[in-house]
Amino acid sequence: MRIKSVRTVRIRLFLSKLFNPNRSIGQKLTTLKSLLLNTMHKLTRLRLMIKPTPPSHSGWGMSTSHVLPWDTSTDIIGRRFLKSETNLLNLINQDKFVMNWGLVKPGYAKPSVSKYLKEARWRNYYIYWSAKLAIKFTQASPHNIVETGVWYGASAYFAISAVESELTKDNDFRIFLYDAWSGMKAENLTASEMRNNGHYSYLSLEQTRNNLQGHVQQCEFIKGYIPEVFNKNPGPNEVSWLHIDLNSSMPTLKTLEQFVPKLLPGGVVLLDDYGWHSFSETREVADKFFSNEDGLLMPLPTGQAIFFKR
Ligand SMILES: C[S@@+](CC[C@H](N)C(=O)[O-])C[C@H]1O[C@@H](n2cnc3c(N)ncnc32)[C@H](O)[C@@H]1O
Repeated sequence: MRIKSVRTVRIRLFLSKLFNPNRSIGQKLTTLKSLLLNTMHKLTRLRLMIKPTPPSHSGWGMSTSHVLPWDTSTDIIGRRFLKSETNLLNLINQDKFVMNWGLVKPGYAKPSVSKYLKEARWRNYYIYWSAKLAIKFTQASPHNIVETGVWYGASAYFAISAVESELTKDNDFRIFLYDAWSGMKAENLTASEMRNNGHYSYLSLEQTRNNLQGHVQQCEFIKGYIPEVFNKNPGPNEVSWLHIDLNSSMPTLKTLEQFVPKLLPGGVVLLDDYGWHSFSETREVADKFFSNEDGLLMPLPTGQAIFFKR
């Protein structure tokens, strides 16, 4: 017995439907219409295989072709976020916010900050969005937010913009900014993280303070190495939002131990390094730590992870 192919069966079925004298013109037109739609769908798939749609966003280890929150007219948070990114870029272009990776030396090209911000947009959007959410869902006055790993203050800038956009009472918040501003130290690194020894030695507290000068009334800059620095300045007793971006697992764990017990109900922790292959130990300590906490940890496609406290 000959086995007919699925395609032959389909064609026969189609022709019998089309030429069946017992079917009305309307029914035959419906059959033709579905054939047309099916063919168009297949051609679109073929076109996408030959020439894929360019991604709407690429960078920070992810790529997407979906609609972006800052490009729609309906997402107010997305549009406000983009405005704060534009404001930051304006400050950078006027040299009021310096972010140069310590590379402005003879022989080095000045890095493109606009390219960096564009590539980090989804990541910075999560910073903005999570800080806004934490202010909305925690009860405090003033709201305390904390960042460990501040660098030039770029992520802090997005957090401050988000908090200010959410507050009903002007300046009703404090931001505690912890960083060594002196280069990473071997004693805080595991064997696999030792490649980062000495990184960020080009930073200075003065530069970061200048960058955030529009908000210094709300900022507490705490210079020193985590964990020792917590003995000198343990930070606030209540926390709405915590951002950890330390590129090292032990100081990440010590930050979690220091501040998560102080996280208010509805508070948020955003981990920057969670999903990066190069920081797998950070993910391990975070997973272990959060397994005992009352809330949920969600990994994000940017490599970040967000913890929502119940
Ligand atoms: C990736 S950068 C932070 C970037 C910043 N969050 C942003 O997006 O704008 C990491 C920072 O962590 C700081 N850091 C790393 N280990 C530290 C430690 N044990 N104590 C204090 N600061 C540390 C470095 O000095 C550096 O500024």
